Amino acid sequence: MNYRHGFHAGNFADLAKHAAILAMLRLLRDNDRPLLTVDTHAGAGYYDLSNPDFARSKEAEAGIKYLMGRDVPESLKPLGDYVRAKNAKAGFKGRIGIYPGSPTLILDNQRAGDQYVGCELRDDDYRLLHDRIEPRGQAIKADGYKVALQTTEGDEDLLYIIDPPFEKPDDYHRITDTVRDLLTLRSDARFLIWLPLKDLETFDAWLRHMEREMGDMAEIQVAELRLRPLWNPMKMNGCALVAVNAPEGFAPRLEAICQAVVTTFGEAGAEARIRIL
Ligand SMILES: C[S@@+](CC[C@H](N)C(=O)[O-])C[C@H]1O[C@@H](n2cnc3c(N)ncnc32)[C@H](O)[C@@H]1O
Repeated sequence: MNYRHGFHAGNFADLAKHAAILAMLRLLRDNDRPLLTVDTHAGAGYYDLSNPDFARSKEAEAGIKYLMGRDVPESLKPLGDYVRAKNAKAGFKGRIGIYPGSPTLILDNQRAGDQYVGCELRDDDYRLLHDRIEPRGQAIKADGYKVALQTTEGDEDLLYIIDPPFEKPDDYHRITDTVRDLLTLRSDARFLIWLPLKDLETFDAWLRHMEREMGDMAEIQVAELRLRPLWNPMKMNGCALVAVNAPEGFAPRLEAICQAVVTTFGEAGAEARIRIL
């Protein structure tokens, strides 16, 4: 596995994904039952943006640091305020030295009594994840798709964050199979899935497969963030966020987040497209 999230931490795609996770957690706060969040692809927990190996990608510079240097759009403020507060607590006054990944973000924003499980396969990132989140959350060094299927026994509300590196083409099929199998076990399970947007055919083929496999098991909200027209399929031209069984009120928040990210980071011809399958 070559992918290391440190190179990409705090880029536009992280901002969209993490703002959406935060919006989802806030909407789920009023539910009576505790929430179990399973992060199938957790990464290292948080990222030191001064690490010279990672900093040379300049993705955080063009992402979180760029965002925080100007008026933060309303829909990204909850994330911006959280990242600023997290940095101040870590001793970075007035600047962004660390970027919290999904494990840290979720643990800091869930309610007392909620639970978090994060799966990571890389040795180095798993060790960091473990040291950074245990005992507040549980770090597991195992295949996140397999672990997810073992988490439906309790009576908590279930939220699955699926954020693979897409190094291998089988991630597309594995996402669909996992979501379908989990919905068969727990029809009320909720999902937030991140995908890259390169060429449209790959994404559309996956959506068609999702529609076929899910039938009318769940509502699927699809948000495409196209940072530029999708002319060059070799480039990451944007990303997509797909929510399954999202709580009421999530769709307009997701739309506002995607519009803000596309407006802030997009090139000529950028657009956000939101639809319900
Ligand atoms: C995109 S990164 C995750 C970033 C993280 N979700 C965040 O938002 O901070 C994907 C991670 O999944 C790990 N990974 C790849 N395949 C996996 C699998 N089958 N199960 C668990 N982790 C996996 C990679 O090593 C990588 O750290």
